[in-house]
Amino acid sequence: MKKVLVIGSNGQIGTELVLKLREMFGTENIIASDIKQDCPELLKNGPYVQLDIMDRPAVREYIIDNQVTEVYLLAALLSATAEKNPDFAWKLNMEGLFTILDLAKEKHLKKVFWPSSIAVFGPTTPKQNTPQYTVMEPSTVYGISKQAGERWCEYYAQNFDVDVRSIRYPGLISYKSLPGGGTTDYAVDIFYKAKQNNKFTSFLSENTRLPMMFMDDAIRGTIELMETSKENVKIRSSYNLSGCDFTPKELAESIQKFQPDFKIDYEFDFRQKIADSWPDSICDEHALNDWGWKAEFDLYKMTKVMLENVPA
Ligand code: NAD
Ligand code: SER
Repeated sequence: MKKVLVIGSNGQIGTELVLKLREMFGTENIIASDIKQDCPELLKNGPYVQLDIMDRPAVREYIIDNQVTEVYLLAALLSATAEKNPDFAWKLNMEGLFTILDLAKEKHLKKVFWPSSIAVFGPTTPKQNTPQYTVMEPSTVYGISKQAGERWCEYYAQNFDVDVRSIRYPGLISYKSLPGGGTTDYAVDIFYKAKQNNKFTSFLSENTRLPMMFMDDAIRGTIELMETSKENVKIRSSYNLSGCDFTPKELAESIQKFQPDFKIDYEFDFRQKIADSWPDSICDEHALNDWGWKAEFDLYKMTKVMLENVPA
């Protein structure tokens, strides 16, 4: 019997993940949880519990008492916010992971999903079609925490037979919930500004290319990885996953296909340095070969769906 706890459910990924998991596995089997007291409107159709991932005893008690079988651990500080609060970011991004990996080691959990990021790569990584195995020297607090997390996931898998699965998400683009402090957030905000004012000021420069993915692809990929049989999961650090890649200028041109008068200008800030340290595009052949991953949304399709759904 599957009983899933999604920790950090109120965020950009958690909201859509909970909705999809409930649709697939039954509302009552998918528990949303977040540090926030109140359950968001969209998630009120099922169980919700307030939990602080930093409160190790409370998280342990809840998971053991409620016989949770799987955890999706999404609570973290993202790249831009983490640079402003490095100590706390390191603590939050690492301590929660150990709490959950230890529960899996003790066999209280059957499976764990923990997301990594393209931020594990750094300025010395090959930028185009970045391979799964390559130089990794992340230069952000967030990237360092994700790389360390990957190493620990692999360690727990190899030494304690923990079934932990992970994806290095690119920047995620969605309309059901807002992003929470990342460097790729511009690629969501641009759609709101396009609908509201028909113009946008980008905090990244016009030719900054980054790997991106529409949320439907990310959720499908996550669940496909979690549902594939254990022997297919050959990588226990984290899988490269590719959706599409584009620059702010190309994204603006894609929006102009639907709104020809849309205007963009550029005023870059501290996030430019973070973006400059990340790959342009990602090679995801291992995800394709091991568990059959294939993205469905390109830039045009994603732009169309975003413009149709973001409120004016
Ligand atoms: P988000 O910031 O939108 O959501 C995080 C959620 O965690 C929030 O609802 C927040 O309230 C909750 N939270 C924060 N501290 C908590 C705590 N102590 N206990 C419980 N909950 C807490 O983030 P997201 O975009 O949904 O990302 C989820 C995960 O995916 C993160 O690990 C992030 O690093 C990773 N990721 C996201 C992206 C992206 O583009 N969104 C890309 C790569 C990786
Ligand atoms: N979208 C995330 C960020 O910008 C990448 O992990 O922080």
